[in-house]
Amino acid sequence: MITDESVERVRDGADIVQIISEHVKLKRVGNSFRGPCPFHQGTGPNFSVVPAKGMYHCFVCNESGDVFKYLQKRLGMSFPDAIRYAAQRSGIVIDEVQRRSDAADPRQPLWDVNAMAADWFRTQLWDERTGEEARNYLAFRRISRDVADRFGLGFAPRDTNAMREHLGALGVSEEMLGEAGLLVLREDSGELRPRFRNRLVFPILDVGGNCTGFGGRLLGPGEPKYLNSSESPVYSKGRILYGLHMAKHAIRREGRVMIVEGYFDVVRLVSAGFEWVVAPLGTALTEDQAALLPKYAKQAYLLYDNDKAGLKATFRSGDQLLRQQLAVQVVTLPEGEDPDSFVDKFGGEKLMEQLAGAVDIFERKLMELERGGYFADLHKKRVAIDKLLPTLRATADSITRDIYIARASEVSGVSRERLEREVAQLSPRITTSHSGRAPVPPPPDNSTVVERRTVERRAPTSPPPPKERLLVRILLHVRSLIEEAVETVGPDQLHDFALADIYRALLSGEPDDPADVLASRLVPDSADRFNELLNDPIGEGEKYAENFAALLAYFRGIAVKRELHEQQREMPIASLDQQDDILSNMERLRNEKNAMGDRSFKGYGPARKT
Ligand code: UTP
Ligand code: MN
Repeated sequence: MITDESVERVRDGADIVQIISEHVKLKRVGNSFRGPCPFHQGTGPNFSVVPAKGMYHCFVCNESGDVFKYLQKRLGMSFPDAIRYAAQRSGIVIDEVQRRSDAADPRQPLWDVNAMAADWFRTQLWDERTGEEARNYLAFRRISRDVADRFGLGFAPRDTNAMREHLGALGVSEEMLGEAGLLVLREDSGELRPRFRNRLVFPILDVGGNCTGFGGRLLGPGEPKYLNSSESPVYSKGRILYGLHMAKHAIRREGRVMIVEGYFDVVRLVSAGFEWVVAPLGTALTEDQAALLPKYAKQAYLLYDNDKAGLKATFRSGDQLLRQQLAVQVVTLPEGEDPDSFVDKFGGEKLMEQLAGAVDIFERKLMELERGGYFADLHKKRVAIDKLLPTLRATADSITRDIYIARASEVSGVSRERLEREVAQLSPRITTSHSGRAPVPPPPDNSTVVERRTVERRAPTSPPPPKERLLVRILLHVRSLIEEAVETVGPDQLHDFALADIYRALLSGEPDDPADVLASRLVPDSADRFNELLNDPIGEGEKYAENFAALLAYFRGIAVKRELHEQQREMPIASLDQQDDILSNMERLRNEKNAMGDRSFKGYGPARKT
């Protein structure tokens, strides 16, 4: 069986002019092609083919249709053969699935169970007594019966047995309900209980219309506000876009898709007439979810919350969409509004205005960086460019990427060639030093660049780097050295999480804080390391003062090396007089490095995750 999706794809993509002109001599006339009609065997140019519509029509015999009808009528092909023929002539690959009777999809039983459960949830919602509170909640959210039914909304009551009794009578076993994630085993009592209780239930359909899972919202305050089906053979939240099954035709018609965060946003927008809307079931779009979209639309609008988390998710999602060659626009709603509340308050007309004012994702990112003053100073500029690079690399459409690079160059003053070179490089891992400058606050975004003054942390379980351990051990037992140490090496430079945490605890109180006070400032993960250091005092004959001086020299060595690296990275984006400064900085650092001798750069280097 050829999938519906393939049929549509062939209909949209088939070259009808090419296919018909194999039998009819066609001549271009404006936007259409004309020739003699093959159906009534006419001789005049009364037969018209309009490629933009994918249709043919004869003005004499009135025969008309699409490419499939042509092949069926003219060449007597069956419908599936017409599809295969048109696909093959137009270079389109089609998906053929086995007929159900041949080989049923192994997921079918779970889909069936979910569909039965969805039906049951729906009856509960509209049951006079059981569903009353949930119906009140819907009324409070201003969702009409009509809209609720379009989305198949239901209600999962508190009752722990009603669902399994009802579905049991229909032949669904508890094992099946367990496999579908509708019943879950309670660890303590060992009993099976419904996963969704006292929640408004949103059935989640995959793009083929199969019920793969549910999202449930509490009717009042509480945690978690939403509960989704657990991952199962049919439900994988990173692969499904809520609403896509219903929205796909509208999305194709519009040529664009709106991406919102939540269930209610989708429901509200559809009910306000915006049918081209979907939601990822989490915060940011996954690669699999983004990959569902390009066959329906070339343009995406992101309508996420206007807060830090929302912006972060916007940029993350944007990169995924750019990877799929979509054009990405960002709609920034007024603070505190999500698409649901916005449309509820101001109506669909106002949302249209917001859409008209959408900003390209890259422009939005530049705006955010400019607002933070990221192009004003060289050090921050380096960070800003590092933030833009992942997006530039993600942009699969080469023309769009060129435009973005030109814009980045314009805004940052860094040459296009330089940016292109950086884009072409594999994502570098950058660590930068504590160099006495004010730390740069993190830009509003997602990229993997390691911030200035931060280092990659080791897993708390791995053994600590010996020099870091020695340093913190000495500081713990000889508090008078803390002041001197912090001038050279701060806690943020330690790779070991627990040691950094202990160091921070030492810095944040009084110099003579007793161990239990220090311990109270630690995160639980650091406690073991702390006790271990506590039980490893400085021995009588231990020449800790000498060790300490060598340690500081060692850490200074690392800092100098990092700073040199950082200066090197700033060099290519610096203006001419900034380059002079950098050169003299580098000279100073190299001198310092040489004066220290090679000793501190050898041997042990802080272990890193690779
Ligand atoms: P929000 O917390 O922004 O809620 O979560 P919302 O959609 O505005 O919900 P209402 O309007 O208060 O009912 C956005 C989306 O993130 C997922 C859900 O898909 C939700 O719609 N989410 C949120 C969860 O999966 N679990 C949660 O606990 C919260
Ligand atoms: Mn909301």
